Amino acid sequence: MKQISVAVVGAGVRGQAYADYALDHPEEVKVVAVAECNTERRRQFQQSHGIEDANVYSDADSLLAQERMADAVLICTQDRDHYEHTMQALERRYHVLLEKPMSPSPEECVAMGERAKRAGVVFSICHVLRYTPFFSKLKELLAAGKIGRLMTVQHNEYVGYLHQAHSFVRGNWRSTAESSPMILAKACHDMDILQWLIEAECRYVSSFGFLSHFRAENAPPGAPDRCLDGCPAADSCEYYAPNQYLTEHVGWPTSVISTDLTYEGRYKALQEGPYGRCVYRCDNDVVDHQVVSFEFANEVTATFTMTAFSRDGGRFMHLTGTEGEIRAAMDKNELLVKRFDTGLEELITLRNPGGHVGHGGGDMRLMRDFIRLVKSGGGEKGLTSAEVSVQSHLLAFAAEASRKEKKMIDMNLFTADKQKFSR
Ligand SMILES: NC(=O)c1ccc[n+]([C@@H]2O[C@H](COP(=O)([O-])OP(=O)(O)OC[C@H]3O[C@@H](n4cnc5c(N)ncnc54)[C@H](O)[C@@H]3O)[C@@H](O)[C@H]2O)c1
Repeated sequence: MKQISVAVVGAGVRGQAYADYALDHPEEVKVVAVAECNTERRRQFQQSHGIEDANVYSDADSLLAQERMADAVLICTQDRDHYEHTMQALERRYHVLLEKPMSPSPEECVAMGERAKRAGVVFSICHVLRYTPFFSKLKELLAAGKIGRLMTVQHNEYVGYLHQAHSFVRGNWRSTAESSPMILAKACHDMDILQWLIEAECRYVSSFGFLSHFRAENAPPGAPDRCLDGCPAADSCEYYAPNQYLTEHVGWPTSVISTDLTYEGRYKALQEGPYGRCVYRCDNDVVDHQVVSFEFANEVTATFTMTAFSRDGGRFMHLTGTEGEIRAAMDKNELLVKRFDTGLEELITLRNPGGHVGHGGGDMRLMRDFIRLVKSGGGEKGLTSAEVSVQSHLLAFAAEASRKEKKMIDMNLFTADKQKFSR
């Protein structure tokens, strides 16, 4: 098989990012069908990929009700729809690339993993970080024994105050009931990376975290529900929406507030849509800071901190081993290795392969790997698998349970409980 064909379900930011690979590598993959409920987005996507009218659908169910029309389907709809769309796609025996999180329900994650196994198809989850040169290098350094036996991992994710406000206060991932808890929506990648680097089962998890800042009592005095309705704090509030969305920059995140990115289109979006709301008066409930600690079966201990409160976004790690340590900063693509015996330091700087949407180069490498797996008919192994993703999702669910119930979670008991319900 030289070129594979794919159908895209949900042609939003992520669907487009993966489909762009087909435009850059037409010899490897062609997008032959799309389901997208936003009319303008659907039209633009159809045009970019030259999709026949007969293969363009306004909702996922209509596409997935048809006979299989491509080798694989990319499922890039919102979190709470992943399960239904994936189960339908697996029923039709499509190979599936599913956006993370697999589902906000642990039972559904387990059920999808098992259904895919029975269908005998490729089922990959978009854990894009594994595909970045940064984390690949880190994995390679650990495997080469550069710091001896791994002992501790401190992993920090600085979301960035504006990214938090955009996605997790005003945007799609603000509400646990509508999407997922923060630890799943933002940090299931981090759970996956920890598990991948540490290479052992996690035994115990505990977590604490709060939504402390983006709440009504912190609103500036007299702030209305929408920034454009004469907010008295317009000059001093760092979250004043026009300062973020009515500038000359119309790339992400401004690009998601409307399909009409003229000044007038964006102004209207701020008057009417979710991104014009005061960050202190939204219907958000996901945390703005959280910490998780882990005990692994190989006696590695790890902590993970997620915080909204940083100027820039980025992931930082400090790993210590019996013979040395590594300090790693993803925003700079830098890894500093220090040895105890020689006292030498080695600074490794990787080439910067891309910005936000590219996830440090991970998106494109993930697509390349998925295409390779589909071409092999599922015979080859990928860098990740549904089975592994289910495990890392369970870490996120356990952390959330610990945070809410204020207790330590025994992963063996937790996993057995979730598997009880799998179909
Ligand atoms: N891998 C990552 O790092 C990463 C990063 C961001 C988001 N995500 C995940 O990717 C998914 C999509 O996020 P996004 O940022 O692209 O969101 P988005 O809103 O830009 O895209 C979703 C698209 O699906 C369409 N849609 C919704 N329901 C549909 C249906 N029933 N039929 C057809 N189309 C439908 C929407 O109109 C929208 O265009 C989410 O699950 C999100 O959590 C993953």
